[in-house]
Amino acid sequence: MQKFHDKTDINAKKYLTGSNFIDYRTQPRAYKSYPSFFLSFNLDDFEELKFIKNIGKITASKTYGNVKVDLRANPSAGGLYPSEIYIQLRGIKSLVNGIYHYEAIENKITLIHELSNDGVEYYFEDKFQKKIIFLISNAYFRSDWKYEKRAIRYILLDTGHLLGSIYAALELEKIPFNIDFNFDKNSLNEDFSFDKFESFYTSVFTQIHKELECKKLRTPIVNVSACDYQLKENFIEEFYIEAQKDFFPIVSNINLLNDLKKEDLQEAINNRRSIRAFKKEEISKDDFLFITKNIFEFAQKYEIEIYFINNNVKDMKKGLYKNVNLQKEGDFKEIATKLALNQKLSGDSAITLFFTAKNSEEYFYLYILTGFISQILYLRSTHLNISCSGLGAYFDDISKEFLETENNIFYLFAIGK
Ligand SMILES: Cc1cc2nc3c(=O)[nH]c(=O)nc-3n(C[C@H](O)[C@H](O)[C@H](O)COP(=O)(O)O)c2cc1C
Repeated sequence: MQKFHDKTDINAKKYLTGSNFIDYRTQPRAYKSYPSFFLSFNLDDFEELKFIKNIGKITASKTYGNVKVDLRANPSAGGLYPSEIYIQLRGIKSLVNGIYHYEAIENKITLIHELSNDGVEYYFEDKFQKKIIFLISNAYFRSDWKYEKRAIRYILLDTGHLLGSIYAALELEKIPFNIDFNFDKNSLNEDFSFDKFESFYTSVFTQIHKELECKKLRTPIVNVSACDYQLKENFIEEFYIEAQKDFFPIVSNINLLNDLKKEDLQEAINNRRSIRAFKKEEISKDDFLFITKNIFEFAQKYEIEIYFINNNVKDMKKGLYKNVNLQKEGDFKEIATKLALNQKLSGDSAITLFFTAKNSEEYFYLYILTGFISQILYLRSTHLNISCSGLGAYFDDISKEFLETENNIFYLFAIGK
C-alpha cells in the first residue's frame, strides 16, 4: 500500500509547484437520486426507522455567493460527500423487506430491490438473514474531481466518519451491531451494476432476523449514476482492488459513546459542526480526558498510533505526545500550523492530534477506522461545547520529520475553543 500512499502525499515541493485552481461550476452532483417511479418512504413515517436520519440528515445550510450548500450530520472533506448508503431491511412493520437507498437530503429511503429468498447476506461468510444491514459505498469521482489522487485518503476518512455516524445512530437506540469489512465486495459491486465508478467499502449489521441462508441477488440492481457526469481514474480503481485484504476482524462491542445520555448524544449529533477559526482559548485537562476517553486504547488495539501537540490544555505540559506520553516539551503552535499546510486551526487549537500507522496490508481498514474514531471525537467535543475539525490537508514529509516517525500520517484533528 506504500506506493499508493506515497503517490498521494503533499510535500513542500509539490505544494509550491502544483496548480490548485478549481472551477467550482464543474463540481459533480453529490447525491444520488432515483427516478420518481421508484417507491420511496419518508423516514419519519416509520417509528422503527426514525433513528436512521441521524446518520446523514441536513443539520445546517450555508450560502457561498448565491449557491446554497446543505451541511449534514456527517462531515466530509471539502463538503463533497462521496459516500452513499444502502440499507437492507427485514421485518419492519408496514415496509416490504428490501434493499433501500438512503437519501439524506430528502430524509427518505428508496426501494431499489424487493427481497424474496435472496439478500446481501449471500456475499458474507455468515449468510443468515439479518434485520438491518448498512452498506457504505463511494462514488470516487465526487472527491477525485477536486483532490485527484489524494482522494483515496479522503474517501476512506469520509467512510469512517459515516461509520461513526451509523454507530452513533444505533447507540441512541441501544441496538447492538457489528462492523464487518469482510464481504465479497467485487461480486456485490457487480450485482449493483456500479461499473467501478462506485464501490462498496464497508458494512454494519444488526441482529439475526431468521436463521435462514440467503441466496444471491436474483436480479441485478438498477443503477443510476451517482454523479451527473464522471471521469475514470485508474489510480483510484487500482488502489481499491489492491487494498482488499482477505480478512479484517469484525469490530463490535464499542464503548466510545455509551457514557452519553440519549438526549445528550442526540444533541451532539444535531449540533456537530467543523469549526472555521478558534478563539485560542484553553480547555481543561478534564475536558481533554473526557473527549478522548477510551480513544487511545481503541486506536492502539488496531495499531493506529496517535500523536498530539498540546497547544493549550490547562495543567498539562505543552509539547508533543505519543499516545499519552510526552515526547518533546515546548510550544509548538507555529510548527503545528505549518504542518497542517499553514492552516491556523492546527496551531490555534487546544490540541491537534496526528493519526498515524505503519505501512501494512491493513491500510484500507485502518484509514477507515481513523475516520471512525474522529467522528467520535467530533461528537464528544460537541457535547462539551468544544469545537473541532478534521484536517485532511497537511504536509506528509515534514509531519513525519517532526513526529520522528516512519509511520504514515493519516489525518490531523484539531480540538479547541
Ligand atoms: C476527511 C476530512 C478532511 C477535512 N479536511 C479539512 C481541512 O483540511 N481543513 C478544514 O478547514 N476543514 C477540513 N474538513 C472539514 C470539512 O470542510 C467539513 O466537514 C465540511 O465543510 C462540512 O462541514 P461540517 O463538518 O461543518 O458539516 C475535513 C473534513 C473531513 C471529513
